Amino acid sequence: MNKKLQDRVAIVIGSTSGIGQAIAETFAQEGAKVVITGRRQEKGDAIVKELEKQGLQTEFYQIDVTDPAQCKALIEDTVKKHGGLDILVNNAGIAQAASMEELDLALWDATYDTNIRSYFVLTKAALPHLVESAHGNILFTSSMAAIKPFDQQFSYGSTKAAVAHFMRMLAVSYAPKGIRVNAIAPGVIDTDILANAPDGYIQAIVDGIPMRRLGKPEEIAKLAVFLASDDASFITGQQIACCGGSSIL
Ligand SMILES: NC(=O)c1ccc[n+]([C@@H]2O[C@H](COP(=O)([O-])OP(=O)(O)OC[C@H]3O[C@@H](n4cnc5c(N)ncnc54)[C@H](OP(=O)(O)O)[C@@H]3O)[C@@H](O)[C@H]2O)c1
Repeated sequence: MNKKLQDRVAIVIGSTSGIGQAIAETFAQEGAKVVITGRRQEKGDAIVKELEKQGLQTEFYQIDVTDPAQCKALIEDTVKKHGGLDILVNNAGIAQAASMEELDLALWDATYDTNIRSYFVLTKAALPHLVESAHGNILFTSSMAAIKPFDQQFSYGSTKAAVAHFMRMLAVSYAPKGIRVNAIAPGVIDTDILANAPDGYIQAIVDGIPMRRLGKPEEIAKLAVFLASDDASFITGQQIACCGGSSIL
């Protein structure tokens, strides 16, 4: 059977856990050659080992995305090794709730460095190679926090709104060059990023979700495969919510 991403070279930024890990695994199952990335070498190695057991070919590249030199090296090394690049998934992210009184410049800058500055650096380095691909594709992980003001998410929510608009501008500029660019806006998904949430914070959000549950990383990964594949050949510049219905309230 023909797989949806057969032989496409994909880099998934921030794939040592959560949503990125699920996207990397699902992409590999759909035939892509996947580069898994993150700072945690042990997590990366364990994921590669597990996928090898399934007969899937992936590799881990250790990177801190706040360092532009490491971002550029990742792109160049991948292209050198695989002869090109077809898909970039900008997914790394950090989130820490803070009121305006608590929020300081250090947290503001750290959130921006990871959640949007790195996306610019990685995308800029990847674009010349994606233009060469017959299937050039960029996916961003945005958030419901880009659409609605979430309590105490001043820095996080504003980075995600920036991601959404950066995505739209790229989609317009690069559609004539054959690259599709889209974003997924997950609702609240059961991953490590929720670990630092204040007591009761997650439950309050779940109570406001029509489906009354957290999402699963695999549910985001299925949408990512669709958007990155030729099934979505006429879709670009879109931020698509996967959120148990919360975006409509
Ligand atoms: N879970 C949710 O409810 C939710 C909702 C909406 C949007 N999102 C978005 O989904 C994306 C993935 O988050 P997640 O929920 O899956 O959380 P997660 O499990 O904490 O995953 C975050 C990923 O980002 C990587 N990362 C963070 N900082 C990095 C850095 N400086 N350099 C390299 N990699 C870095 C982490 O890898 P290392 O730690 O190994 O570096 C990890 O692989 C984020 O953009 C997040 O904003 C999540």
